[in-house]
Amino acid sequence: MLTDFAFPDVQMLQSFVGKDILGAPQFSKAEMEAVLGVAAFYEKALSEGKRLWDMDGKVMAALFFEPSTRTRLSFETAMHRLGGRVITLAESPDNQISSTSKGETVHDTIKMVNNYADVIVIRSPRTGDAQVAAAAANHPVINAGDGFGQHPSQALLDMYTIVKEKGNPEGLTVALIGDLKYGRTVHSLVEFLKYYKCRLILASPEQLAMPADIVQKMQTAGIEVELREGIDAAVKDADIIYMTRVQKERFMDLSEYEAVKNMYLMTGETVRHFKPGAIIMHALPRVNEIALEVDDYPGAAYFRQAGNGLFVRMALLAMTCGQVKGSFKPAWAE
Ligand code: NCD
Repeated sequence: MLTDFAFPDVQMLQSFVGKDILGAPQFSKAEMEAVLGVAAFYEKALSEGKRLWDMDGKVMAALFFEPSTRTRLSFETAMHRLGGRVITLAESPDNQISSTSKGETVHDTIKMVNNYADVIVIRSPRTGDAQVAAAAANHPVINAGDGFGQHPSQALLDMYTIVKEKGNPEGLTVALIGDLKYGRTVHSLVEFLKYYKCRLILASPEQLAMPADIVQKMQTAGIEVELREGIDAAVKDADIIYMTRVQKERFMDLSEYEAVKNMYLMTGETVRHFKPGAIIMHALPRVNEIALEVDDYPGAAYFRQAGNGLFVRMALLAMTCGQVKGSFKPAWAE
């Protein structure tokens, strides 16, 4: 049962060394639980005030070609908390600072960065770029979100949150609400939920429905998938309510965004329809899909969820670099 975050054995840890983390589908259930086990180990060490040292001498490159707050800062913090170092490229269309804006390809950028860093974390607006990066690198590449593709570290921290908040996820009902077409977080999360036979409720504007191939994959795996309309109906009898932001940046035509942006909004009134003990999750940032008044609801877990990103990302960095040792900063290094 996934309630105690068991620390993985040596073979399992070994199997992660040098691995790229590109998408949730690459994980077996045991591999997914192994990451959560290491994350819990690091969370405990930090809560005891320990100064970890597992990534001493290692450098992480954070290459963010798309806006990010939580993902980049938690990956950077994870590296710092493990005693490692960080180099960062944080770029957006209005703030072009790297040679990408001169026309350099992801392939060439990675060929360079590969000389500087031991592990590469990349976010890109183009689906598939993490694969391109992994092919160009001989160090582990971690996908921190590629277009509307995958966001595996987010799904891992989502699972960590679910277990911390609700215990064993087996058989829970999970409502996924909002932009299920472009929202990469839900594309990754369902891959893990299927291991626990979670029942899925999908609610979105018609134009933003979950891609048919993903729905079919879930159904083939024996997952019950139900489509519902309207936020009140969607939240009813769910144990976990996972809200998503309508991904404005993916729309070619902004009038299409305007037409759907306010269709699934949660207010204090929506909470009255919840099953007792239900929790609300959101990868954040939120725009208006969860009203501020909902933050006072005890099951509003989204900021706790963001906090869990640190431990899961510590685990991913140390595991892929083969550095999970539980070593602490020696006195001579003070
Ligand atoms: C998500 C993302 O970038 O996909 N944010 C995140 O990583 N915390 C969700 C979003 O931007 O809506």
